[in-house]
Amino acid sequence: MKKSWLAATAALVLAVAPLAGCGDKKEETTAASPAASTAAASTAAATGGTIKIGANFELTGGQASFGSSSLKGVKLAVKEINAAGGVLGKQLEIVQADNTSKSEESTRAAQKLISNDKVVALLGPVTSTNVLAALPVAQEKKVPLITPTATNPKITVDERTNKVNDFAFRTCFIDPFQGKVAADFAQKELKAATAVVFSDSSSDYSKGLLKYFKETFTKNGGKILAEESYQQKDTDFKAVLTRIKEKNPDFIYVPGYYEEVGKIVKQARELGIKAAMMGGDGWDSPQLFEIAGKDALNNTYMSNHYAADDTSPEVQAFVTAYKKDYNNEVPDALAALSYDATKLLADAIKRAGAAEPEKIKDALAKTKDLKLATGVLTLNETHDPVKSAVVVEFKDGKQVFKSKVNP
Ligand code: PHE
Repeated sequence: MKKSWLAATAALVLAVAPLAGCGDKKEETTAASPAASTAAASTAAATGGTIKIGANFELTGGQASFGSSSLKGVKLAVKEINAAGGVLGKQLEIVQADNTSKSEESTRAAQKLISNDKVVALLGPVTSTNVLAALPVAQEKKVPLITPTATNPKITVDERTNKVNDFAFRTCFIDPFQGKVAADFAQKELKAATAVVFSDSSSDYSKGLLKYFKETFTKNGGKILAEESYQQKDTDFKAVLTRIKEKNPDFIYVPGYYEEVGKIVKQARELGIKAAMMGGDGWDSPQLFEIAGKDALNNTYMSNHYAADDTSPEVQAFVTAYKKDYNNEVPDALAALSYDATKLLADAIKRAGAAEPEKIKDALAKTKDLKLATGVLTLNETHDPVKSAVVVEFKDGKQVFKSKVNP
């Protein structure tokens, strides 16, 4: 596992190296965060005009696979935008910060990017909990934050006041829809009458999905036999899985992230649990196969944002460009959504007519019919796109597209 991860990282470094252009390309590291660096296009340096955008991602820690894919998507989009002349006559410049997959560091990274680096907008983080930690900074400093991937409804609509967070935007569907997709799939496709839910109590994403899954599953007449939970960084799930096995459910819903999910699936199969298991987009990582093993993953499913084998010309143009830059690697949903979030931001800056955070925010809120890799994007009154989901099956070491579900 370690080895291939290193290889992947090395491939990433090689693949992104040309993105900064030739000539006086430099990597700058600021004192505030050693992991932050600036990759400026040399042409921009020559004209002295760049528009700085912040990339606050999970580059190390338990969700590193998410952050690494996301950053690759952002870099590919920036490369294309800059090659086509940039935005408002200026090149885009990515200032990246590693939030180490932690909420405190996500807050700190947002502060640093806004206050020290003076970025005009933030991309990321990936996960709902980390976005919820970074967002108050964006709201307070009045700098728009676009999360490509965080699906919890609380991000765009403040739970307590029920008001739209005016600086929060995203390019993905939200979890009331994703939870329903899973419950419908379990009941209609897999004919599950009973389910056990096993969620991550340290994640806002997981807690949300659990709630929405249960709502649909029980409304449709299904029975939840037990509710169990774990915490991120747990490694031994056997005691709980033994209890789950005794209930003998038709279906087990595990709305978590690949690091723990991989171990849960592996240990469940070791205990002889044969039931279908399913999760949401948080399962989407090449690491999942390495942690769980391909056989254990048979008869498991996830809901997700896009499938790389979708034949639409937009998806295929993106997949081809990505593979070309990244050593033939097939882009996951995180890469696709981050690519789209960057294009969305560039479009908003253009429509705003100025690289000023508040104007960009106003333009973002008006996004309509923007053609992107994962579909045509219109943001509704809560800054959420309405998009279809896909259901993917893990089969013999591969992700296999099962169906597309429209909202
Ligand atoms: N939706 C997840 C969250 O809100 C993040 C995620 C998106 C993870 C897509 C993987 C793929 O935390």
